[in-house]
Amino acid sequence: MRFKIPIFDVKNLSFVVRGQNILSSISLEIFNGEYIAIIGPNGGGKTTLIRLLLGLEKQTFGDIKIYGKNIKNFKEWKKIGYVPQRASLVDASFPATVLDIVNMGRISQRKFFSSMSIQDKEAVQDAMLKMDILELQDKMVGTLSGGQRQRVMIARALASKPEVLILDEPNTGVDIVSQKNFYALLSKLNKEENITIIFITHDVGVIADDIGRLFTINQKAIVCNNPKEALSCEEMSVLYGIEAHLLHNHKHEH
Ligand SMILES: Nc1ncnc2c1ncn2[C@@H]1O[C@H](COP(=O)(O)OP(=O)(O)O)[C@@H](O)[C@H]1O
Ligand SMILES: [Mg+2]
Repeated sequence: MRFKIPIFDVKNLSFVVRGQNILSSISLEIFNGEYIAIIGPNGGGKTTLIRLLLGLEKQTFGDIKIYGKNIKNFKEWKKIGYVPQRASLVDASFPATVLDIVNMGRISQRKFFSSMSIQDKEAVQDAMLKMDILELQDKMVGTLSGGQRQRVMIARALASKPEVLILDEPNTGVDIVSQKNFYALLSKLNKEENITIIFITHDVGVIADDIGRLFTINQKAIVCNNPKEALSCEEMSVLYGIEAHLLHNHKHEH
C-alpha cells in the first residue's frame, strides 16, 4: 500500500563535518506501511542519517521533506517514534519502573506537571500490551533482561501512537531467542497496525524475510527494492563491505 506522498522524501542529502563527508548525495523515499532495513558498516553514517531525518542534526546540503512538508516546517513529531541506539542499556540502579518509562512516551503530549489523562493511560496500556510487557509494569527497569528492556523502550515509543517507528540497532545486548520474538513483534506491528518500520542493523540475516526494502549506507546510499532475490543486493553488499553471505544463506533457510 503506497500513498502518493512519501513519509520521508530525501533529495541529495549531504552531511559534512570539518571538511569530511559523512553522508554524500543521499536520495531516498520511504512510504507509508513499508518495512525498511538500513544496513552498513560501523561509522558508515546510519545513525547520522536517522538523526538528520528526525531534525536532530542539520544537513549541510540537500532537502528533507516529511509528509510532504519541508523538515523546517514539520511539527507533527509525535507521528514518529524513535528508539535511539543503546536506548535499552540502562544502568541496573536506574530508579524507574517499566510503567514510569512507558509513561514518558506521553510526556510531550500533555502539559508539564498535569496528570495523565484517560487517553494517556489507555495509550500506555495498549503499548505495553503490544510489546507483551503488561506483567512487568511494576518491575524496576534495571532488573530486566536485555530483551525485556528492549521491549520496554519500544513500548515507550509506541505510547505516542506513532505512524512510523525508527529503531537504531535495538539488538545490542539481546539474546537470540528474544531477538526472534522481537522481530515477530515488529512484523506484527507493521502488518496488523500498518506502522511503517525503519530498522537499523548490521544483523540483516535474521530479518531478511520480513523486510520490504533494504538500504545500504556507507557515506552513500544504495536502495535495494527486493532484498530476497536480487543478486545486485549481494554485489552491493560486497561492494560496501557488508557480510553478503548472511543475506545469501538466509534466503535458503526457510
Ligand atoms: N556531529 C558530528 N560531528 C562529528 N562527527 C560526526 C558527527 N556525527 C557523526 N559523525 C561521524 O560520522 C561517522 C558516521 O557515524 P554514525 O552515523 O554514527 O555511523 P553508524 O551509525 O553507521 O555507525 C562517524 O565517523 C562519526 O564519528
Ligand atoms: Mg549507529
